[in-house]
Amino acid sequence: MSDNKPIFQPNREFAKEARVKNMCEYHALQNEAMEDYEGFWSRYAKEKLDWIEPFTTTLDESNAPFYRWFDGGKLNVSVQCIDRHLSSRKNKAAIIFEGDRGDKQIITYLELYYQVNKFANLLKENFGVQKGDRVVIYMPMIPEAAYAMLACARIGAIHSIVFGGFSAEALKDRIEDAKAKVVITADGAYRKAKPYMLKDVVDKALESGSTVVEKVLIVERNNEEIAWVAGRDYSYNELIKDKSPICQPEPMDSEDPLFLLYTSGSTGKPKGVQHNSAGYILWAQMTMEWVFDVKENDTYWCTADIGWITGHTYIVYGPLAMGATTIMFEGVITFPDAGRPWKMVEEYKINQFYTAPTAIRVLHKTGENEPKKYDISSLKVLGTVGEPIDPPAWKWYYEEVGGSRCAIVDTYWQTETGGHVVSPLPGATPIKPACATMPLPGIIAEILDENGQKVPAGEKGLMCITRPWPSMIRGVWGDDERFKKSYFGDVKKEGQAVYFTGDGAIYDEDGYITITGRTDDVINVSGHRMGTAEVEAAIKKHTKVAEVAVVGKPHEIKGEGIFAYIVMKGEDSFAQEVELIKEINNIIKDEIGNIALCDDIVFVPGLPKTRSGKIMRRILRAIAKNEPITQDTSTLEDPSVVEKIESIVKSCMI
Ligand code: WTA
Repeated sequence: MSDNKPIFQPNREFAKEARVKNMCEYHALQNEAMEDYEGFWSRYAKEKLDWIEPFTTTLDESNAPFYRWFDGGKLNVSVQCIDRHLSSRKNKAAIIFEGDRGDKQIITYLELYYQVNKFANLLKENFGVQKGDRVVIYMPMIPEAAYAMLACARIGAIHSIVFGGFSAEALKDRIEDAKAKVVITADGAYRKAKPYMLKDVVDKALESGSTVVEKVLIVERNNEEIAWVAGRDYSYNELIKDKSPICQPEPMDSEDPLFLLYTSGSTGKPKGVQHNSAGYILWAQMTMEWVFDVKENDTYWCTADIGWITGHTYIVYGPLAMGATTIMFEGVITFPDAGRPWKMVEEYKINQFYTAPTAIRVLHKTGENEPKKYDISSLKVLGTVGEPIDPPAWKWYYEEVGGSRCAIVDTYWQTETGGHVVSPLPGATPIKPACATMPLPGIIAEILDENGQKVPAGEKGLMCITRPWPSMIRGVWGDDERFKKSYFGDVKKEGQAVYFTGDGAIYDEDGYITITGRTDDVINVSGHRMGTAEVEAAIKKHTKVAEVAVVGKPHEIKGEGIFAYIVMKGEDSFAQEVELIKEINNIIKDEIGNIALCDDIVFVPGLPKTRSGKIMRRILRAIAKNEPITQDTSTLEDPSVVEKIESIVKSCMI
């Protein structure tokens, strides 16, 4: 290998049994895809999916970028995840649930089948939910959340999960945009042994009457006192009692939508990313098999929340499609102490552990020696996702958690890609720390410049995927133009618009890909995407705010923190008023939720703008990072503002 980075070879013993055993096998798969792209995907779709009716076309590119996969085929994702396992795995644990307070539940595939069918019957019979209807799920991490997702899939309803930390306003926006008919929630949940509420957030979101929600279903979790709206609110625990445990799955076209998941972009409100049935579930299953290499008797744990894409693909759909045992965890991994995950690994003999760099940093900082206290020798594969992992966190994860014997799969992907796109294969890929390594077989990922030319090794470029793949985003709900513009508007290769991820990346001389982070105005806070435009829109709701610009700033634990520059109306003193900061953060909490709270808020006399009025965020980013400004400021409308901002920021940081 040509550069000086250390290389970690796959564990030989592990590789012997792995699905992809070495780089020859990896290249053979990648070449197969290159030589006969459709043949490759058609082979896997036939091999992996249970079809009700076989597909007739593999890929239809005639209406690009509205690509279609596996047309003519009919299937049902809940059958792929449950029914097809009943002959060989009916008594196998499908979901192992551990609650915040340590309460446990094991749900076998047969039990999951009954629960999902009953839930599906409830949605149909009591609420009249039909194929194509949208159902919003605003739930804690409890098994009923997974039942709800699969029940929607069974009857062809489109679920849209909203992360439980989003505010009423954010929930309302998503309910409205999707025109959801039903909301499924819980009476509450537990976090760090204390109850927290969800139902009152739903009530508030529906209060304005601007949605078309007809029914709200409430799952019991902590028996907190909640308000009931007659004729709208129903108890899941009551209604489910007399439901039949058999529900015929709806035959779905390959391209019928499976779910929406709202995610932040660089402009405007969050977009409803749409994933469809066949292509999504195929890649969820294939990547589970290749990247985590889960074996029949393994126990796999992904610590994400089902409110994010990682929870969709790698807690629920991927593991269940392949017939694995997946852990669902309600709690916080540092509670009651930073030994919690390792205690769980010991107890459940977990073999694959998948988490975010931000979690690894916290576990490292607050519990460096915790892994030593437990027997975590069952671990075989460790995963990371959501943001670049820094070398010190990687080293600790590799040595102390993985005992220098587990592969670390640094999986690069997005809500829009549905599943992993660049990642090591644990039995094959020699790993360089903190590097996502290579595209998975079947994914044609290239780093291009703005003219669609491949950049040379060592030069930063735009991370693109130049051929459609089965699990790619199918649309932005209700906005075809935004879909085209957001993902296919920036880069053309040989005249053809290609998918641009929004991330920058670099190849090294060995062809290894390192992701360098977003090139747009999206901040990655603890692995969660936050559009600066969204945070700015919230801050602008404060009546005294004239202007605002939000940028990301490196943060030791969260990866990036949120830094806001605010110009107040008619202010000429720039006292950094604590009360005002509180008020602004309260607005953010109401408009978006705690995850968007600003780490720094500074009041400034103006923003650096070009003569055409464009805010020069690069300057603001440099100031927030306390870096020298390398840009020419003479073209600014008021160059003197930069110095003023710098001195205010410096005085605030003391
Ligand atoms: C970032 C999460 C570096 C990237 C699955 C991407 C990463 C965004 C990695 C998607 C990684 C994800 N290394 N950066 N391994 N994985 N990202 O939609 O900026 O919540 O565009 O999906 O996270 O975030 P999203």
